[in-house]
Amino acid sequence: MLLMKKITVHTSTKQYDVTIGKGLRHHVLDFLTKRYSRIFIITDSNVEPLYLDDVIQSIEKDYHVTYTVVPAGEGSKSMRFYFDIMTEAIRSGLDRDGLIIALGGGMIGDLAGFVAATFMRGIDFIQMPTTILAHDSSVGGKVAINHPEGKNLIGCFFPPVAVIYDVETLHTIPFTEVRSGYAEIVKHSMINEPPFWEKLQQVDLNKPLDDNYLKQDLLRGIEVKANIVEQDERETNIRQYLNFGHTLGHALEAELGYGKITHGEAIAIGMLFALQVSEKYYKSQLPYDALYQWLINNQYPTRLPQLSVAKLVERMKRDKKVKDQKITMVLLKDLGKPMIKQFDDHKITVWLEDFLQELNHH
Ligand SMILES: NC(=O)c1ccc[n+]([C@@H]2O[C@H](COP(=O)([O-])OP(=O)(O)OC[C@H]3O[C@@H](n4cnc5c(N)ncnc54)[C@H](O)[C@@H]3O)[C@@H](O)[C@H]2O)c1
Ligand SMILES: [Zn+2]
Repeated sequence: MLLMKKITVHTSTKQYDVTIGKGLRHHVLDFLTKRYSRIFIITDSNVEPLYLDDVIQSIEKDYHVTYTVVPAGEGSKSMRFYFDIMTEAIRSGLDRDGLIIALGGGMIGDLAGFVAATFMRGIDFIQMPTTILAHDSSVGGKVAINHPEGKNLIGCFFPPVAVIYDVETLHTIPFTEVRSGYAEIVKHSMINEPPFWEKLQQVDLNKPLDDNYLKQDLLRGIEVKANIVEQDERETNIRQYLNFGHTLGHALEAELGYGKITHGEAIAIGMLFALQVSEKYYKSQLPYDALYQWLINNQYPTRLPQLSVAKLVERMKRDKKVKDQKITMVLLKDLGKPMIKQFDDHKITVWLEDFLQELNHH
């Protein structure tokens, strides 16, 4: 508890603290800033056997606690589970003065957050992220569920009242999820001042995670994100910087089939592409090789099956951010200097063909 770190995030409507530390799940009551009528916890089937009891034990002496468990996996971020959770919440007696706790990774954060945002027109919720990737999703106030037509199409902006990040819980996530989460930390480093990326380059994910380094990396990543969303909560301009690596990343995830590659692993390849395009466009030197080497050292997938460039480009054009048929990419003029640029599909096609060929022959 002594070694916890705190960041305060300011939104247009309120502010909330993000606290990172070891064993915080045993001290949840310390983070409640007001009295609630009761508490309803939402978690998934992987997290439940690991951490649900700890959280319940830390609050049940003062509160009436109920919970619900959804199957692990992106499939639960759906209309069906949203509705089922609502039913359970109502039947459990949750009311307007209650609190929802989202205990899990980004899937649970988005789902439980959207439940909280809409339950009786919105009640307080706390994010308790249990994945590295959730350093990204738990901060910034975006909550959503998926529609069969696309990811995150049903959602809103609804910040939590607190984020309680217990780094101890991160030791049980599978290696692929460690990689996935670290890719988003790398993203935050690349759109920030160079020292952050230089430090991350030393990170060796093949070794057991060190709580202190992890805490620092998460904190730095959250700071970068918080700083941007505080200036542009509703993504009218600079919040788009957070999409660095995501234009191709999202297209790869969809084209390969969700679940074939994790979000972060796809974003990692997307960042390589964005770096290569940036080098060509600005005729500058960027850490393409350094990132490539880091990805190889940490066993990220960099070889892709044969993919249709035309289909990938088509997917990029279907992105929510497309304007006037042009594809938006976040480039780096220099490390820490993101720029938003639009290109027509012909340009992207040429660059992407080069990129994929080089990647597979590296
Ligand atoms: N709201 C936002 O701003 C935002 C930003 C980025 C991503 N997201 C969303 O986040 C989701 C991805 O998040 P994620 O990568 O955390 O996925 P996830 O929540 O599905 O977690 C990944 C896997 O790890 C398991 N898991 C979670 N914590 C664990 C633990 N401590 N020990 C063992 N296993 C554990 C989960 O059960 C799951 O199987 C997507 O739905 C994405 O759309 C939202
Ligand atoms: Zn992402």
